[in-house]
Amino acid sequence: MAKIDKSQLRSKLWFANPDDFDMTALYIERYMNWGITREELQSGKPIIGIAQTGSDLSPCNRHHIILAERVREGIREAGGIAFEFPVHPIQETGKRPTANLDRNLAYLGLVETLFGYPIDGVVLTIGCDKTTPACLMAAATANIPAIALSVGPMLNGWYKGQRTGSGTIKWHAKKELSAGNLSYEEYTDIVASSAPSPGYCNTMGTATTMNSLTEALGMSLPGSAAIPAVHKERANMAYWTGKRIVDMVWDDVKPSDIMTREAFENAIVTNSAIGGSTNAPIHLKAIANHLGVQLDNQDWEDLGYDIPLMLNLQPAGEYLGEDYHHAGGVPAIVNQLMEKGKLPHPNAMTVNGKTIGENCEGAEVMDDKVIWPYDKPMVQSAGFLNLKGNLFSTAIMKTSVISDEFRERYLSNPDDPNAFEGRAVVFDGREDYHARINDESLGIDEYTLLFIRGAGPIGYPGGAEVVNMQPPDALLKRGINSLPCIGDGRQSGTSGSPSILNASPEAAVGGGLAILQTGDQVRIDLNKREANILISDAEFAERQKAVDAQLAKGRLDYVPDHQTPWQEIQRGMVDQFEEGMVLKPAVKYRD
Ligand code: FES
Ligand code: MG
Repeated sequence: MAKIDKSQLRSKLWFANPDDFDMTALYIERYMNWGITREELQSGKPIIGIAQTGSDLSPCNRHHIILAERVREGIREAGGIAFEFPVHPIQETGKRPTANLDRNLAYLGLVETLFGYPIDGVVLTIGCDKTTPACLMAAATANIPAIALSVGPMLNGWYKGQRTGSGTIKWHAKKELSAGNLSYEEYTDIVASSAPSPGYCNTMGTATTMNSLTEALGMSLPGSAAIPAVHKERANMAYWTGKRIVDMVWDDVKPSDIMTREAFENAIVTNSAIGGSTNAPIHLKAIANHLGVQLDNQDWEDLGYDIPLMLNLQPAGEYLGEDYHHAGGVPAIVNQLMEKGKLPHPNAMTVNGKTIGENCEGAEVMDDKVIWPYDKPMVQSAGFLNLKGNLFSTAIMKTSVISDEFRERYLSNPDDPNAFEGRAVVFDGREDYHARINDESLGIDEYTLLFIRGAGPIGYPGGAEVVNMQPPDALLKRGINSLPCIGDGRQSGTSGSPSILNASPEAAVGGGLAILQTGDQVRIDLNKREANILISDAEFAERQKAVDAQLAKGRLDYVPDHQTPWQEIQRGMVDQFEEGMVLKPAVKYRD
């Protein structure tokens, strides 16, 4: 790798510009407010930013405030100067209307900070769902040396001797509450038990997924993803991360050197093996777009579909974050994949200067109840299918969470295996779903297909996590726990529903879902990877014309008004889920 010397440090543009000496002195006076000496700033030491995502508004990442102290010690030990600064908060469970609305806002803010201040390298403090892609996207655009530090998962949740996992327990307990099997007090006790400590969600939701994929991409130190937040190894990891970024500055290792097409291919394969979230294709596409790396939903199917699920974590399995760590974390998974020749690029470079293959070689599985062997996995072919048809040009489905009950009901016709047809019931956004799901006049039975639209990046600013729709109470009471759900929104990674989601283009921009009506017959064919409304071409064209006419006048009537300036700004320039929901004008900015 290229080496740079003191005179080539980016911060020199601020601190040692000979034509601008008076201003330089002023800058230094300002930065000296916090115990940094003039000697330090003029010493030619690299300035390392610590992009702080933790705050009282972002409790999943709040432990980073403590970890940052160890990051600083590592930076200082290696001869750098640490400047910690805030990143716009993104709390998955707190932000209305959705945390995903703020991913691009945090991205913009972080790009501006990295570009506009004297920062030679940066430690990205990742954890809660959208904090990870926001940070990696910004690092991709700024393309200055960057390393990610995960906050680590929460400790396992427990209730009456059973593991209770973030999010997942809520879906289960909610069904029990709706079916009348739990009191409200019991419900809240059970759900609260799933979050016993600082850290990100302990299930295989979007947080565990994105922290694991950051490691698989090579952007964090080996083993970084799974160490629980409060373990002492986590603090050690913080220290080593701080130390390492200083060397990365001198070696001039940039995000574009690490996050190559090869690295993304490794991440896709890893995602299948861990049973990662359906939000991952959106976020990885966004990061790739900001790097100019080609990637699409078909790559997810081509590279990832055949890879088995090896990690036994909720919602697909039984265990939680602590168990993942004790079983060996990402290195143990990657090593298993390598031994079977299934990791596409063991030679991909990582932030520690070694390849992912070198980092993970020999990493043992320490608990085979948690990490199953590649040849005897939990589920075969655990990746995503890429579906198309007249309803959308691309949507994904995570087939590994299809339950036996679901398979039996929909996918067991010997004349037509892996395909089913049903009557559609259509909801226009989440409020409509909540208002009408128990309406008996909809005639929802166990063969109904539930649709939701108006839930994409524009229809519901940022895209709603609503596609996993719970069946009506009457069906739950009969033991029907899930119906096929299809929509242009997202789904929480902690939910185990076998939905077809992230449909692009969304209804709000005139995609096929916009013409669907309750009562239409729809056919899903998983063999052919197709989803189609069964109506005549003439009928289709006529309905499309009506939708186009409405769009020509403005928004579709179920698409809500903007509530904030950012909602309006983002809606005016955001791309579809298949493009990673990036801000279209932003992708041309590199370095
Ligand atoms: Fe923040 Fe799950 S809510 S990680
Ligand atoms: Mg989530």
